Amino acid sequence: KTKRLTTRDIRARKGSDPVVVLTAYTTPMARLLDPHCDILLVGDSLGMVLYGMESTLGVSLDMMINHGRAVMRGSSRSMVVVDMPFASYQESRELAFRNAARIMTETGCAAVKMEGGHEMADTIHFLTSRGVPVMAHIGLMPQAVNTAGGFRAHGRTEDEAAAIRVDARAVADAGAFSVVVEGTIESVARALTAEIDIPTIGIGASAACDGQVLVTEDLVGLFNDFTPKFVKRYADLSPQISQAAADYAADVKSRAFPGPEHCFGVPKQK
Ligand code: KIV
Ligand code: NA
Repeated sequence: KTKRLTTRDIRARKGSDPVVVLTAYTTPMARLLDPHCDILLVGDSLGMVLYGMESTLGVSLDMMINHGRAVMRGSSRSMVVVDMPFASYQESRELAFRNAARIMTETGCAAVKMEGGHEMADTIHFLTSRGVPVMAHIGLMPQAVNTAGGFRAHGRTEDEAAAIRVDARAVADAGAFSVVVEGTIESVARALTAEIDIPTIGIGASAACDGQVLVTEDLVGLFNDFTPKFVKRYADLSPQISQAAADYAADVKSRAFPGPEHCFGVPKQK
């Protein structure tokens, strides 16, 4: 009796209605986003955005499961996809299945996401043929920051462009129901979107993709450590929160807060 969107619904959007995806890590944020999204992605970006880590490499499976459960509680309509964190799937397809199964059974989410192209195809096929829907993630892959030597747009050279298209084909053929394409130049994103029959979800990969994803805290100005070129700011909430804290601190110091209306056992003033 679930009213949530399914992998079938998402696949059916190929070449038609764009797929709307935002990250969510907590119940209250999921409640706010759920009516407007097709997919809520519990991204391992939470390591940087919520925990102040310098990369996503230190994010654990337990962290992803706890946040996945929170987002499931706060949503009823969107499909919830949970990122597999670094070292939870790269070693073998069996390890990947075991950890993906933990994510699905302990959170109730409908799919997992993992970074990797052709090198993960065998794992993606192993999981999708055993009941675990997989969203793939190609192009710029943050868990590979150390081997890639930093973050930069992909696909500028002919070799790199060809490699990303091979990756897109490989994950689609392996059974992924959709694929995030991150930090990839427009012509390459457009070409691979035309070449595969599953929706491409772009982030820094142009409007040629079949859908878009952004980190919600980037969108609303709650994460300001750095802002990639591909982020559009739709709101700037940080100054409002700072001002609220400053006003509260001033009221506490001047004893303007709490007022009688916030206290128990204080007779109403006439
Ligand atoms: O971790 C994340 O939030 C992601 C998206 C930005 C695609 O992987
Ligand atoms: Na991620």
